[in-house]
Amino acid sequence: MRILMVCLGNICRSPLAEGVLQHKAWKAGLQWSVESAGTGAWHAGEPPHHLSIKVAKHNGVDISKQRARQFVKEDFLNYDFIYVMDSSNYIDVKQMSGKLWKEDKVDLLLNELYPGENRAVPDPWYGKEDGYHTVYELIDKACDKIIEKHIAENTRYEVGSKK
Ligand code: 4NP
Repeated sequence: MRILMVCLGNICRSPLAEGVLQHKAWKAGLQWSVESAGTGAWHAGEPPHHLSIKVAKHNGVDISKQRARQFVKEDFLNYDFIYVMDSSNYIDVKQMSGKLWKEDKVDLLLNELYPGENRAVPDPWYGKEDGYHTVYELIDKACDKIIEKHIAENTRYEVGSKK
């Protein structure tokens, strides 16, 4: 399973989402590869924002070795699922993907917690440290849900296949 987390700059939100889901997947014994990208290229090659690194570290997750990159349409071929942080990321990814776009491969991350509500993970870029903690908590809960859902679906499948 390969999952891509996408935001605008790939330095605040999606690096946290990458780090948190990868960490939870490892802990759950899942062979998942989680990566991230930004729809914009301004920060390509840079490490995550120092406050994202700090808040992740505070929660036991090391994201300091990540480097930002821009989303490319071929990501649709290389990942099983793409989570975006807000509706403008969704529109940008759709536009950038052209013919490779597949609606069933993309969703807003918070739709895992609030299905169909299209709530945004708020962009902390212009704010202070508390915004990064808020973002962390939202991402943490959404990633718990992703893992729980995956385990529940697989368990159901195994039970069903024995019949
Ligand atoms: P992110 O936050 O999309 O969560 O990485 C941002 C980072 C940088 C910029 C905007 C949002 N920027 O305009 O450079």
